[in-house]
Amino acid sequence: MTTVVPASGQPILEGERFHPTVARHGMVATSHTLATDVALQVLRDGGNAIDAAVTAGFALAVTQPRSGNIGGGGFMLISKGDGSAPEAIDYRERAPAAATATMFQDDSGEVVEDRSRFTHLAAGVPGTVAGLALALERHGTLSLKEALAPAIKLARDGFTVPKRFTEGLESARPRLERWPATLNTFYKRNGDAYQPGDLFRQPALTRTLQRIANDGVKGFYEGKTAELITEEMQRHGGLITREDLKAYHPVVRTPVHGSYRGYDIYSMSPPSSGGTHIVQILNILEGFPIGQFGHNSADTLHLMAEAMKLAYADRSEYLGDTDYVDVPLAGLTSKAYAEALRGDIEPGRARPASEISPGQPAAYESPETTHFSVVDKWGNAVSNTYTINFSYGSGITVKGAGFLLNNEMDDFSAKPGVPNAYGLIGGEANKVEPGKRMLSSMSPTIVKKDGRNFLVTGSPGGSRIITTTLQVIMNVIDHGMNIQTAVNAPRIHHQWLPDEVRIEQGISPDTIALLEKRGHTVVTNSAMGAIQSIMIGKDGTLYGGADPRRSTSSARGY
Ligand code: DON
Repeated sequence: MTTVVPASGQPILEGERFHPTVARHGMVATSHTLATDVALQVLRDGGNAIDAAVTAGFALAVTQPRSGNIGGGGFMLISKGDGSAPEAIDYRERAPAAATATMFQDDSGEVVEDRSRFTHLAAGVPGTVAGLALALERHGTLSLKEALAPAIKLARDGFTVPKRFTEGLESARPRLERWPATLNTFYKRNGDAYQPGDLFRQPALTRTLQRIANDGVKGFYEGKTAELITEEMQRHGGLITREDLKAYHPVVRTPVHGSYRGYDIYSMSPPSSGGTHIVQILNILEGFPIGQFGHNSADTLHLMAEAMKLAYADRSEYLGDTDYVDVPLAGLTSKAYAEALRGDIEPGRARPASEISPGQPAAYESPETTHFSVVDKWGNAVSNTYTINFSYGSGITVKGAGFLLNNEMDDFSAKPGVPNAYGLIGGEANKVEPGKRMLSSMSPTIVKKDGRNFLVTGSPGGSRIITTTLQVIMNVIDHGMNIQTAVNAPRIHHQWLPDEVRIEQGISPDTIALLEKRGHTVVTNSAMGAIQSIMIGKDGTLYGGADPRRSTSSARGY
């Protein structure tokens, strides 16, 4: 008899949400109700999806300090309702000019983990303000000042904290309270956490946001805010200089494009690995009758886990910032390469990680995160994932500026073969270099059908972002689920190393037994991701699916 060991940690269903939110004119799905509300108001007032997305991005920086940010970076995918080719805005953080390949190793070449996670060296040059401003400039109708107004109001007047806000600050307290500016910003004068129902105000952040509203991106990358950031760095041995801040620029990129059973998949290109591997895994799985095998059956899960392993092995070898290294993108995402990989999958046996190594794609050609999705009445879609890496990033607040610094430098490979915080292995392609962007897994994705936007999705979750996003796409395309069911369904994850299938609560014990019989090591762990999605029906009806794995998630429309 199989003993059912209850999963540790957070269950999937924090809230009670089983039906999609339905609307006609506009839909916003974010991980915080207040951000959803201000973005929805922008749509109601005649703004477009880009206006609403940027407004949500700034509002989350106020209401959800654990991942919403101006001290981090991310990626935005934009697909217009006019059928034009989708575009990606890369506002990932960059390594400061003084960064070196060995900066996270000691004198004997050993990796010093904490250095890339909890010190001022952990911070990459933030990209969020420049990225959101660029999106607005290229595709929005609001001014930066208008898009910032709701965030400034929430920071200045305060908002009522939900339970999740208190819980987050309580659990991260040991690493946050070491920094006086963090303690002063996010805890009460007596050191207590704000309790559910308390009003939480952020005067220093209000002033920073106001400077951006007054002076545009210069209000962050130059002047007073830049001065506060560089002083913070100088006091604590950080590397970011005024020149680094001034040199920061977001990049407009072409998303990765693939197809899956007649749908067009657009997702994030390097410096994220997300789009590349979602397309690669889908290409491999396209050769199997997944719908017929059934959702979360042992046959389906076995094939998914085997395909995931192959993709993550390639990730470890080939992926990095394409401004610095050649990535064989066309090879990795080609149907022919997927076919070759598919041939190595055995239906009845899990191949141990030791039997798998990075493959040989065709030659090189030159070249606590949060996700939100928005669709407007013109059919424009925005899919945005941004982050400061860990919950509360490095834990370090810029004194006087009221925002947390990211610890994204940990996404670089500190040393070839040594895993990062998500257990991901990297090599030469992802070593630290001055000005380089660290490899990401963030996967803002837009799926089109017959040239029309169909599914807008993406998630936090570190290395699990890729597989989380993959499964929502498959749940819709292979298993015909409505968007809320697709979001809720229990998920699995395999990343080659460690050699285990990680599953959420809700996979049946007999399925687990069948997987174990094939040689998989199955580990039940806490919930993965928080995927905020929107599906667009043929008649234009909008269906929102917010992830119940975050109790503050919401999808609202009008
Ligand atoms: O860019 C990445 O892949 C990571 N820094 C994302 C971190 C993350 O999703 C944490 N959230 N749960």
